[in-house]
Amino acid sequence: MSADSVSENIIPHKHSITHVDRVERNGYRPVLVWLTGLSGSGKSTLASEVEKALFTQGLNTYILDGDNIRSGLNKDLDFGDEARKENIRRIGEVSKLFIDSGTIVLTAFISPFIDDRKQAKDLAGADNFIEVFVDCPLDVCEQRDVKGLYKKAREGKIKNFTGIDSPFEQPKNADVVVKTNEESLEVCTKKILEVVLKKIKN
Ligand code: ADX
Repeated sequence: MSADSVSENIIPHKHSITHVDRVERNGYRPVLVWLTGLSGSGKSTLASEVEKALFTQGLNTYILDGDNIRSGLNKDLDFGDEARKENIRRIGEVSKLFIDSGTIVLTAFISPFIDDRKQAKDLAGADNFIEVFVDCPLDVCEQRDVKGLYKKAREGKIKNFTGIDSPFEQPKNADVVVKTNEESLEVCTKKILEVVLKKIKN
């Protein structure tokens, strides 16, 4: 049976509590804060800091993080182009559910392809989406090598490693660009927070 013939027989149910009900009760717009950048650029650290600030203000937040999600929901996926695409497609769909539930969601995935990030934006709705480019040069990420993976990639022990033998398509129009090799964690966090706090009030 093809996927199309399955979807023909799927009739989504309209539940009584709606997205609008949830947003009205919370009193702010839920947004998807999409962090993209090389491995070791600082996405997870920044997501964590931004979440802490939002959470302590009483806002509902959740982080979806590459290594964590790949240990569960997406553990069937490798790092080939198609699998990365599927990784981001699923995260886009999961993020959409979080947005629907009224939650501010922060994602920390390399998400190397422009088209996949655009798909996530379309799913969330452009008004609910903030793209953050965590911009850090490859040589700095490689020097940091927090997880020791760049070394393994250079030794040929890991294939398709982003920046080494797998591409990273830089965002051209990110809503926020943070340069983690030049700006402090505090400054980068503040830059993201400012945009988030402005957006959730609109
Ligand atoms: S993505 O490209 O599909 O968006 P994702 O963010 O989920 O990647 O996972 C990236 C993390 O997986 C990296 O931070 C790193 O710890 C780990 N990893 C393992 N193998 C690779 C690889 N070949 N390329 C990039 N990251 C890898």
